[in-house]
Amino acid sequence: MKSDYSLIKQLHQSRCMIKIFITISMTILFYLIFLLRPLFDYYSYKELKLQKQNKSLDRTLGFDHIYVINLDYRMDRRKRLDDIASYLGLDFKYFPAISKDDVQTLNRYGSADMNPSAKACYLSHYYIYKLMVAENYNSALILEDDADFELNITDIMTDIHRDLPASWEVLYVGHCFESVGEQVGKSSSVHRLYKSVSPMCLHAYAISYSAVHKLIELLDPVIPRGSVDYSLKVLIDEGKISSYSVHPQPIVQWKATDNPSDITNSIPLSFSLLNSTSRFLGYKQ
Ligand SMILES: *[C@@H]1O[C@H](CO)[C@@H](O)[C@H](O)[C@H]1NC(C)=O
Ligand SMILES: *[C@@H]1O[C@H](CO)[C@@H](O)[C@H](O)[C@H]1NC(C)=O
Ligand SMILES: *[C@@H]1O[C@H](CO)[C@@H](O)[C@H](O)[C@H]1NC(C)=O
Repeated sequence: MKSDYSLIKQLHQSRCMIKIFITISMTILFYLIFLLRPLFDYYSYKELKLQKQNKSLDRTLGFDHIYVINLDYRMDRRKRLDDIASYLGLDFKYFPAISKDDVQTLNRYGSADMNPSAKACYLSHYYIYKLMVAENYNSALILEDDADFELNITDIMTDIHRDLPASWEVLYVGHCFESVGEQVGKSSSVHRLYKSVSPMCLHAYAISYSAVHKLIELLDPVIPRGSVDYSLKVLIDEGKISSYSVHPQPIVQWKATDNPSDITNSIPLSFSLLNSTSRFLGYKQ
């Protein structure tokens, strides 16, 4: 009887031990999960960010976003760009350009002596800077709607991003009348990265988060120094903005012979592409 009792007692004790053991391990497990959860989240977040980065390098050439300044009535240009975008697998977000006939908007521009199309162009670029901040992008490529691309623009930009310093502010993928500066990086590709030397034209340039805030302040259209590309060039010359350029330019304006440009001042460009996407798709240059 006594031995029976001690057996039951022993059994009861070991059951208690098991219960306590289970309770303690469940508690430890619970806290482990609770503590490690942020770590799991962090890794899945990193993975997500990586996927996003890959996606953006593929479809937006390594920038967060691509804006195209489009004059609404230029449906011919829109059609050509749509074709280019779908062939190259790029995402373009069209931004309706300020019209040179939109007197009310143009009146918000300062007193610099400029023709209405130059003012409209200035404001179009400026409004994109504001939009980029509102839409919370860290970087954006800004194109005018007469842009033409090297067929392998994605490969070219993959190379360029490898050399682009993290502190970049402006990157001229296209430009005009610019001499070649000091090379940045050791790339031996055809298209290489250089420090900018008084670049002109804004048919294809990228801006970073830190640049966009400076540009909003320093390029305020109420205090213009001239056309928008000239004003930006002055800021670069003065060392207020750090800028890089790609040579030879892989994004150009197609020759505006039968299609006179509305946005820029129709600067005649002699630059041509090695293998034009627009020509490849059957468009007349
Ligand atoms: C992103 O691209 C890199 C290199 O192209 C690749 O190694 C990586 O696995 C890709 N990441 C994802 C999440 O697809
Ligand atoms: C892009 O294509 C051109 C020929 O059109 C070639 O010379 C160049 O090496 C290519 N660049 C890259 C990065 O593939
Ligand atoms: C341009 O690229 C296409 C597609 O890769 C190729 O078929 C064509 O021969 C190239 N043209 C020139 C002039 O290099």
